[in-house]
Amino acid sequence: MKKDFLTLLDLTPQELAGLLQRSREMKQSPDPGHCPLLGKSVGLLFEKASTRTRVSFEVGIHQLGGQSIFLSPRDVHLSRGEPLHDTARVLSRYLSALVVRTFSQETVQILAKEADIPVVNALTGLTHPCQALADLFTIQENTDQLKGTRIAYLGDGNNVANSLITGCSMMGLDLVLACPDGYDPDKGYLENGRRLASRSGGSVQVVRDPTAAVSGARFLYTDVWTSMGQEDEARKRRRDLAPYQLNTELLSSASEDAMVLHCLPAHRGEEITDEIMEHPRSIILDQAENRLHTQKALMEWLLS
Ligand code: CP
Ligand code: NVA
Repeated sequence: MKKDFLTLLDLTPQELAGLLQRSREMKQSPDPGHCPLLGKSVGLLFEKASTRTRVSFEVGIHQLGGQSIFLSPRDVHLSRGEPLHDTARVLSRYLSALVVRTFSQETVQILAKEADIPVVNALTGLTHPCQALADLFTIQENTDQLKGTRIAYLGDGNNVANSLITGCSMMGLDLVLACPDGYDPDKGYLENGRRLASRSGGSVQVVRDPTAAVSGARFLYTDVWTSMGQEDEARKRRRDLAPYQLNTELLSSASEDAMVLHCLPAHRGEEITDEIMEHPRSIILDQAENRLHTQKALMEWLLS
């Protein structure tokens, strides 16, 4: 049966741990002769902008011996009304996998149901599981073990936060999210995260006070206040989320060796200051690099 990767729940916790281990091997000992995607073509259907996800997938596919084909909405018939199910079935006749960035989670679900090939969610308005893979890997690189590590996420309870909840709760981390009223993560992802955490020994909490959230945290994580598609709300979001800015004062309330994460792109001066972006304990660029290694491990798992 073909595998998809629409959320982290498409993996068991054991498979997730295995992917993180494989990412580490691929990062530490790159093997140019290892080509599990040889002769395979992977489509990248992106309805939203992307720097990291697009480039890391294209480069990763190339490094594994495969070919990537970027399909922008401008160029394919989907934007002119060709049904999703026809698109999925036709693309399955040419491609070995389809990586999709789109607005609604339902779109990736329909594509996965109709396609005979693996479908990968490269971000929807609800989730960003490829990002969470790299987040967990980056945390693991910088700590003895994932289990019991405390991480504070600050700001908007968005797609990145929803996937982080699932990932942390599968792997037994203690995640505290500080979000203002009205900006909580998705209720279903929170409830499911708490269920998963009760099995893994982790925990998921939502609080209002950012200083309380960062207290004792080894990792501080933030993302933009206005995600793609929410541009009309930018002014209100800047006002409501201002107390959650990741700045020097907040960093000084965390554990003294606390490290800083951001999925990027950042709006410097909004959710994070320049000073924190450039701080010696910012591991944001490693986190971005790790998109490449974790997605290579993912593609190998899906296609070999
Ligand atoms: N973090 C992330 O997904 O970045 P891009 O939007 O640049 O792909
Ligand atoms: N929350 C952001 C993440 C970008 C990678 C967005 O959806 O725009």
